[in-house]
Amino acid sequence: MHRALAIPLTALGVGAAGLAYAAGYEVRAFRLRRVSVPVLEPGEAPLRILHISDLHLTPDQKRKRDWVRALAGLEPDLVVNTGDNLAHREAVPAVLDALGPLLERPGVFVMGSNDYYEPTFKNPARYLLPDSGMRSHKGLLPAEDLRDGFVGAGWLDLDNVRAHIKAGGREVEVVGTDDAHIRRDRYDLVAGPVDAGADLSLAVTHAPYRRVIDAMVDDGFPLLIAGHTHGGQLCVPGFGALVTNCDLPRRQAKGLSRHSTGRRTSWLHVSAGLGTSPYAPVRFACPPEATLLTLEGRAT
Ligand SMILES: [Fe+2]
Repeated sequence: MHRALAIPLTALGVGAAGLAYAAGYEVRAFRLRRVSVPVLEPGEAPLRILHISDLHLTPDQKRKRDWVRALAGLEPDLVVNTGDNLAHREAVPAVLDALGPLLERPGVFVMGSNDYYEPTFKNPARYLLPDSGMRSHKGLLPAEDLRDGFVGAGWLDLDNVRAHIKAGGREVEVVGTDDAHIRRDRYDLVAGPVDAGADLSLAVTHAPYRRVIDAMVDDGFPLLIAGHTHGGQLCVPGFGALVTNCDLPRRQAKGLSRHSTGRRTSWLHVSAGLGTSPYAPVRFACPPEATLLTLEGRAT
């Protein structure tokens, strides 16, 4: 073979193999990540939070449903669901089934854009371009049925809500917003300094836009929990995420980081999520995940 032709063909072969891996294996390689967060008072007993995000479930995804159902065996003190549960008009029963055993535990949730709007085909070339979140939305999904299912089971809806919840024997102050990616966030309605009388204060949102998380940090919430980024979804080994699909820096695309506003600094945990749009069922160097956050006492 001519050398000038051999190199592009080799690159094409490597690309095809990578795509086959990304679509055929990694997108279903669910894993539980365990992260410790030193956010409690020194000497305080740990609090275990299961963070689930971006299921993007369709009714036929039995393997994903079974994997999520099994997470109940962790017996977390609190479940935090940061949205984008749905990827199909008829997926609400499947989501409620997958989360069924976890709905029996204390839990909070916020919605993501994909709980409201049907997934639509998007030109793969646009993956790396800014996404307003509004451009391609057409059909509505039964978000209110999902909300009713969660609330009916006892989970707390934190879409532009501030409240208290008992978890792990503690009084936890929780605040959350609806999805900033589609401008449903109204943090102004729930803003204010953290409750000094609570044992712990947590802030929850789907898309970690700076306008929301900075305000949460400035109010003194020591731990923020978010999803939406998919961890970048298609990552470069050794480099990480190429995009966060919001204005969060790439280095914070997934996992635990420190987030500072200049006035205050808090912990931020971003989940890489468990799913993808049905129109982009690929992940690379960014496996689907749920996270068990173990909140521990700060070092003295
Ligand atoms: Fe998502």
